[in-house]
Amino acid sequence: MYRNRSSILARIGLLATVIAGTMAAGCGVRFDMQDQPRYKAYKQNEFFADKLSTRAYPEGTVARGRLNDNKAFYTGKIDNPNPNAVAQTTTDAAGNTVVTSFPDAIDEFPLPVTKELVERGRERYNIYCGVCHGPGGNGDGMIVRRGFPRPPTYHEDRLRKAPVGHFFDVITNGWGRMSSYAYQVQPADRWAIVAYIRALQATQDPDAILNSTAKADQSGTAKTPAAAATTHGGGK
Ligand code: HEC
Repeated sequence: MYRNRSSILARIGLLATVIAGTMAAGCGVRFDMQDQPRYKAYKQNEFFADKLSTRAYPEGTVARGRLNDNKAFYTGKIDNPNPNAVAQTTTDAAGNTVVTSFPDAIDEFPLPVTKELVERGRERYNIYCGVCHGPGGNGDGMIVRRGFPRPPTYHEDRLRKAPVGHFFDVITNGWGRMSSYAYQVQPADRWAIVAYIRALQATQDPDAILNSTAKADQSGTAKTPAAAATTHGGGK
């Protein structure tokens, strides 16, 4: 249908008026969320005795999904450690005190050790740990070669015997000069890394492979992932 120019302009003008009118009316009644009365987090507030706008969470508040009620899984520690048990220590050649017993650390993995877990651990280990601990766990990573304090090798007797919970605890809370990796590595991945460290240890200690395979055969759960790694054909 033919329309002349002025009638089109008139229609546009009408439309614009309607839109502007609607918006103006809207502003009159609408109350946006960002406009509601509220306190700014750190602003002084006379209403509360402590004069803080920010209120503390009620005691025992837990964020959704953060209950973490499986102590073994989230801390690597046993539920009821003997209160009288003390960690044994020795002094190494450099004069450092080294802990040789871990009374409150769990001794078995709190999740199934599968080939996938060990693979995941290998990947995470190479990202987060290998840079210092070296690809084979000998404490000769590139950062150490450039001057960072040298960590102990995973293939010493003390760390071979250390329970899995100790490794988890070291990743979670750090150890001596090593800082915590809790932010970078989530709990399930920490266990994956521990499983991979056990596999690394087994590569230097064939007896451990035989022992843990025997244990896995008897109980169905492996103390080290060597059994899982060997029955699935090992590396790569
Ligand atoms: C920046 C270097 C660095 C990185 C990265 C690093 N570590 Fe360490 N780690 C060290 C040093 C140094 C020590 C020795 C600390 C001490 O005894 O004061 C150590 C010690 C350890 C120990 C031995 C604790 C003991 O009982 O003596 C374990 C186990 C360990 N690290 C695991 C890990 C794991 C797993 C990762 C990866 C998530 C990791 N480390 C990442 C530097 C590092």
